[in-house]
Amino acid sequence: MNDLEALLVDHIAEHGPIGFDDYVDHALYAPGLGFYGRGGGAGRRRDFLTSPEVGPLFGAVVARALDSWWDSLARPDPYVVVEAGAGPGSLARAVLAAAPRCASALQLVLVEAAEVQWATHPEGATSRAELPGPGELGPGPVVVLANELLDNLPFGLVELTEHGWCELHVGAAPAADASIAGGGLVEVLVPLDARRAGWCWGRAGRAAPVGTRLPVQAAAAVWLDAALGLAGEGGRVVVVDYASSTREMARRPWEEWVRTYAGHGRAGHPLRDPGSCDITVEVAVDQLATVAPPDRDRSQAEFLAAHGIRELVAEGAARWRAEGAAGGLAAIAGRSRVHEADALTDPAGLGAFRVLEWDT
Ligand SMILES: C[S@@+](CC[C@H](N)C(=O)[O-])C[C@H]1O[C@@H](n2cnc3c(N)ncnc32)[C@H](O)[C@@H]1O
Repeated sequence: MNDLEALLVDHIAEHGPIGFDDYVDHALYAPGLGFYGRGGGAGRRRDFLTSPEVGPLFGAVVARALDSWWDSLARPDPYVVVEAGAGPGSLARAVLAAAPRCASALQLVLVEAAEVQWATHPEGATSRAELPGPGELGPGPVVVLANELLDNLPFGLVELTEHGWCELHVGAAPAADASIAGGGLVEVLVPLDARRAGWCWGRAGRAAPVGTRLPVQAAAAVWLDAALGLAGEGGRVVVVDYASSTREMARRPWEEWVRTYAGHGRAGHPLRDPGSCDITVEVAVDQLATVAPPDRDRSQAEFLAAHGIRELVAEGAARWRAEGAAGGLAAIAGRSRVHEADALTDPAGLGAFRVLEWDT
């Protein structure tokens, strides 16, 4: 049993089972013990690849998007852009390296809960642990961006049992059973009151069979509400993530939409070895829409096409043709854009992610 698991088992023994969302919060963010709290996360040398970690092309396209949003706001100076869940700062670095037209006005704020990741944030950006409050960054509109943040916010789970809808809590296995259960933590089902059960029926549909599970993404909804408040009048919130709907997830095995990752592979049951793996969930767009329906919902491939990925690839290929290896790193980066674009727009991978936009 690892240190975090031992702490959780002791806590549960004293206070009783904890909600699954509470468990995810500890397993990911407990300082020094949780997956992110220990320094796990996105990157080639870390645990999984995200679009900014594929290479600089994603950031170069986002830089073009930032320019077009700046133009549509009549080029404010300062132009405040908040990147939430910035991880090691790779997206921000690539945006700055692309030298967007808005660069001289750009005030880039990186919000990253795991402070161990701030060390690699680029100069010229400020780092903080929490989303600023409305108006805190000045009176003007703000663009709030989040790539693969919402799938990582703590979420609850509910299950339809023979006795009705229950919330999944995390309890401690009796000591004698811990080795049989494969660990010290076990699932405990706690019945839901009629109002919450009604919410579950509404999301899952009346035909849902016993055994159906649903995610409850309250923290993602709370985050969206705060982000919309921060964006302010004329601002924008842009969320990129793997997403589906609660109804669609209700029809699939929960192990498909709750995903665990470590060391560039899928990991095991989320209750095993807490802190050793990332725990993520597909984002339920319908649950976000209860805060505000997005103004646009398109695939990452469509979003990147709309903001000029093809032009950037053609420009990179032309540079490589003109300069070859003699052109040094810039020419090689130009050539590699072709492969980056393939990965970023792959309909069976990153290209199928959703880009949700709210105009505020
Ligand atoms: C999957 S990583 C994505 C990192 C980066 N955006 C990327 O695409 O490579 C999610 C990041 O969000 C951070 N995070 C989680 N909850 C957060 C919160 N409430 N505010 C800010 N950052 C948070 C995690 O620590 C982690 O670094």
